[in-house]
Amino acid sequence: MPQPGRVIISEAELQTRIVELGAELARDLAHERPILVGVLQGAFLFMADLIRATPIDLTTDFIGVASYAGGKSSGQVRIVSDLSVSIEGRTVVVVEDIVDTGLTLTYLKRTLEARHPRSLRVCVLVDKVERRTVDVAVDYVGFTIPNVFVVGYGFDYDGLYRNLPYVAALEGE
Ligand code: IMP
Repeated sequence: MPQPGRVIISEAELQTRIVELGAELARDLAHERPILVGVLQGAFLFMADLIRATPIDLTTDFIGVASYAGGKSSGQVRIVSDLSVSIEGRTVVVVEDIVDTGLTLTYLKRTLEARHPRSLRVCVLVDKVERRTVDVAVDYVGFTIPNVFVVGYGFDYDGLYRNLPYVAALEGE
């Protein structure tokens, strides 16, 4: 059974960087009352910390997508739980846990752009640049990491380990 091993991003590193990201968002979007769209489930911890680090008027919503089964990419992406409000004419920031191949984000951006937001930005906690198979623009990146499968701080393996307060490599696969 694979287990969380080496720490890749510590709790302190997460909090420091998220405060910086929040300040960037606040600076860029101060007068736009953005809607931050968290991508479930992985981004819910990041979202909670990020909005508390973003001291401007904003609203939140969540969208649920399924793209992975047990840690392997299926290449298939679908919305399993949609937004509860319209984003037409709104300044939207998609808050995503990780960009790996880029398939999920590409699909999400296309889907949300079709709803005619005023603008659409993407804020991602972790970028695995090496693994990218489709080119997709990301506006705010927390950390760039090498090609390791990570768990903790929202990241799961078969639904487990989301509750770790740090990001660790999954070891023993
Ligand atoms: P992509 O479509 O390949 O870019 O994958 C994005 C999704 O894959 C993320 O939203 C995660 O749910 C999942 N994912 C990719 N890499 C990891 C990882 O290292 N740990 C946990 N989930 C991952």
